Amino acid sequence: MLRVAVLVAACAVALAYNPILDTTTCCSCQTLLPNNVPDNVEPQRMPSPFKIIVSRNYYAPLEEIKVNLTAEGDTYFRSFMIVAWATDYRSDNQLRKAVGKWDAVDGTPVAKDCLNNQEDGEALRSTTMDAKRMVKLAWRSPERYGHLEFRATFVVDDDTYWAKEKSQMIVDPKADPPTTKAPLPQIIDPINSAGCGKQKGCYRYPHGCWELYCEYIATWEDHGTHITFEVGAHTDGLDDRWVSLALSNDTYMGDDMVMDCVHNSENHQTKVSLSYNEPGKKQNRNLPEYLTNKALVFQEGSHFNGRIRCRFQIRKYNKDSTGRVVALTGNKWHIILARGNAVQGNKLRHGLLEHQLPVVSPYKVSLQTIPDVHDRARYPLVKAHGCLMLFAFVFCSSIALLLTKYYKPMWPNKRFFEQRYWFVVHFNLMALAFLVVIIAIILIFVEAGGWSLTPDLPQRAHPILGIIIFICILINPIIALFRPSEDNKCRPVFNWFHWAFGTIANVLAIPNIFIGMDFGKAMIPWWATWIMVFWVIFHLIIEVTLEVHQCCTHKKNKERRKKYEAMKRDNPKNYIQEPEPAGRRFKRSLLWLHLTVTTIITIIMIIVIAVC
Ligand SMILES: *[C@@H]1O[C@H](CO)[C@@H](O)[C@H](O)[C@H]1NC(C)=O
Repeated sequence: MLRVAVLVAACAVALAYNPILDTTTCCSCQTLLPNNVPDNVEPQRMPSPFKIIVSRNYYAPLEEIKVNLTAEGDTYFRSFMIVAWATDYRSDNQLRKAVGKWDAVDGTPVAKDCLNNQEDGEALRSTTMDAKRMVKLAWRSPERYGHLEFRATFVVDDDTYWAKEKSQMIVDPKADPPTTKAPLPQIIDPINSAGCGKQKGCYRYPHGCWELYCEYIATWEDHGTHITFEVGAHTDGLDDRWVSLALSNDTYMGDDMVMDCVHNSENHQTKVSLSYNEPGKKQNRNLPEYLTNKALVFQEGSHFNGRIRCRFQIRKYNKDSTGRVVALTGNKWHIILARGNAVQGNKLRHGLLEHQLPVVSPYKVSLQTIPDVHDRARYPLVKAHGCLMLFAFVFCSSIALLLTKYYKPMWPNKRFFEQRYWFVVHFNLMALAFLVVIIAIILIFVEAGGWSLTPDLPQRAHPILGIIIFICILINPIIALFRPSEDNKCRPVFNWFHWAFGTIANVLAIPNIFIGMDFGKAMIPWWATWIMVFWVIFHLIIEVTLEVHQCCTHKKNKERRKKYEAMKRDNPKNYIQEPEPAGRRFKRSLLWLHLTVTTIITIIMIIVIAVC
């Protein structure tokens, strides 16, 4: 029963990781981003169902503008913050200043924020967490501040929020017309993919996409003295984003020349810069600006409507003494396309989940050729690691542990090479699992080039948990070598340690498999997680059923045992068969059921991991 309790506790911990009570609330006044957002939760990429509806798109001092925050369909938000900002805001270091005063017309409980001194404007934030479908507000400003826009962040729950959604522009009629004053987002021509493979080399993902629908696209065209590059990516449409093209000798980050296309929302500019990935480290560093200026002939870029793109020309022979900038000719490279978030024009590192992982061309290309590359490099060692671990923990160890826990009394009179059946299966499956785990660990160390930690939780925990599990399953066969005989008084101590290490390993392994499936490099489709969830629930049900069954038959078995002991005492010379346990037919069918389902699920999962 203890093992079940531990498993249940592990589930509780897993659930606690996703707390039902949301901690996310709105918002920091300067950034308009929510507080207490769990790790790894990012603002939504899809268009927001929440809108800022205004009664007028111009303003005059002290005239009220009615503002409705609405939710489409049956969506709702729990928490929000809204502020009015000037649109001609340009300075990089200055904080944005809230403009005007707010009132909640419909009595929604709110608090005012960003109040530094009396003349300043304020932001408005909700103070209750109930579901809101419509909030009516009123805004007025004592003065003119040029053209304005309302920005609001809507928090639904811990996993879902939309940040800094814009209203339409609120024009100041006395200011210069917005087209000249407020820098509107410039949009450059889309990347034409019709010429892919004919006039220019392309790498697009997914296969055959055209620019507006590509997750990533890069093109190159050699003009003799320089090369024209185009690079673009889909983004979540939020302010500061980047996309980069790296030239790499392998399919990994490290020792690569990188061309960045970074959007800075503070000045509405999308700029190209050069950087490099440090050898042997997963780190990107900017190159000094003069190197970029020396290399670039021309550049343009835009970030609009969820598309970031740059078009630029780079001189072919910029090779510098540091070797960070390479001559763009006479070599072949893997093309790496990556994207991520930025802050004021500075790139932040990309994530490692499936949709955040850079795509890498499966083979090397020369920039003087015009292939139309699609598909992405795969990481067979990662996949092999996943398959092996799944086989070891889902198949081998779950069956082996089930037998030890519930099937010891079964088949009491049968032996296989003088050993009981359960022991033969337990021993062999565990030995197999042990070997398989060691191979899997070696593979992943080879892939990662040694011990490496990913920056974010829960991925960061994967190798650490892995090592703890590995130590447990390393200790177990060692202490099994020194297993005392059955009547030795140390045997219960042995049994206890053997049980404890085995249980710790198994209980940690299952969550670790779930974490592992999230690694982008494994490229496991999201729905595979549900297959695993189904299996875990199935396994738990089998365990609980067997546990209950064991309780129910306990008395009967004890009586049979007593009778057997008595008979043995009375006839010490005769061989007497050990009693068969009660309910053995039921137990046998459960074992078959578990074996069948687990085998099928293991096979499906291994195929999914290997093929996808
Ligand atoms: C806000 O909603 C109310 C009620 O639905 C409506 O009467 C009012 O016109 C709306 N205001 C704006 C600015 O759309």
